[in-house]
Amino acid sequence: MEGTNILLLIICTLTAVALIVAFVKIFLEKSRPPIRKTPARYVTISSDDDVDSFMAVYDLDWKPNREKPEELSAGIESIINNIESISPLVTELSSRLNDPDINPKDISKLIITDQGLTSFILKRVNSPFYGLVQKVDNIFNAIVILGYNEIYRIVMEERTSRIGLRPSRKEWIHSNLTSTIAGYLASTSRIGVPGGTMVTLGMLHDIAKIIMEQSLPRPEGGFPEDPRERLREESELYGIDHAMLGGMLARRWRMPEKLITVIERHHWPMFWPLREIAHDSPDTVKELALLSISDVAAKNFMQELEGPYIGNDYYRFINKPPKIEGILKPEIMRDLKRIKHIGDTDTAEATAAKQP
Ligand SMILES: [Fe+2]
Ligand SMILES: [Fe+2]
Repeated sequence: MEGTNILLLIICTLTAVALIVAFVKIFLEKSRPPIRKTPARYVTISSDDDVDSFMAVYDLDWKPNREKPEELSAGIESIINNIESISPLVTELSSRLNDPDINPKDISKLIITDQGLTSFILKRVNSPFYGLVQKVDNIFNAIVILGYNEIYRIVMEERTSRIGLRPSRKEWIHSNLTSTIAGYLASTSRIGVPGGTMVTLGMLHDIAKIIMEQSLPRPEGGFPEDPRERLREESELYGIDHAMLGGMLARRWRMPEKLITVIERHHWPMFWPLREIAHDSPDTVKELALLSISDVAAKNFMQELEGPYIGNDYYRFINKPPKIEGILKPEIMRDLKRIKHIGDTDTAEATAAKQP
């Protein structure tokens, strides 16, 4: 009998403890603040932002047509039809830019299949441009020493020059500066865009400018420096601007869709606020923000233009202060000055001219 009482006591105590634990749990659950979903991080406009001032950047008399032109002029048609295919190596490399398992061995294997490219890279790597103490005699070491970004940059330069697209000195400097800044911004802004993608876009975004310069009549006195004005004149003169034409060429070269879209739209951030672009280009808005800011920064570095051109919303989106000094930081100035220096000498054009 006594045993039954003890058992009953134990059961009652356990039930009481279980009830207390359950009550405490319910109480804690109720007092915990509800978990909120992180808001979509396209645009963060805090209350102290001067929305009017950055929206004023987009208060413009003229904006480009976002749609592809329905008809192309005979001149443009013939450019598109006659452009040589870019080496499949570029397509192969660009489709692997997002591959996290990429390694120097695979990339060097790909590069050494082309002798001309291999010797171009080695010549460039051992040129005073990089000032390396030791001579580099193979592509694997070149990748390890200089990193993927530099190699991608050299590959793009050599491959486009191979199909006859040789930039003027000014354009050579611009694409190399934009590419360097874009690679730097991709790694420091930490918004999940691979550096290789941005380096490639920096090199190729204005590719159609070279073609226009080589094959189409230029306006008297040349194009204006102002990028928006230039786009307007291109559209009026040729019925298409260099961004849209560049996208068409990239499509012809079977580049990945993302790269095509970014090339095609790379001036949009100069005309529309981030909110609008994020809505229209949700998959490429990060790349567009990085590229257009790099583009403007490269032109600022060369003192070719000043002024905002792009709203603060884009700078905030890539986690940077909305001023050019926040982009052209001392840590990349050395590389930028080196590019300018080499471009100012004959090296860039001379190397391009030597291509078969
Ligand atoms: Fe452009
Ligand atoms: Fe550009």
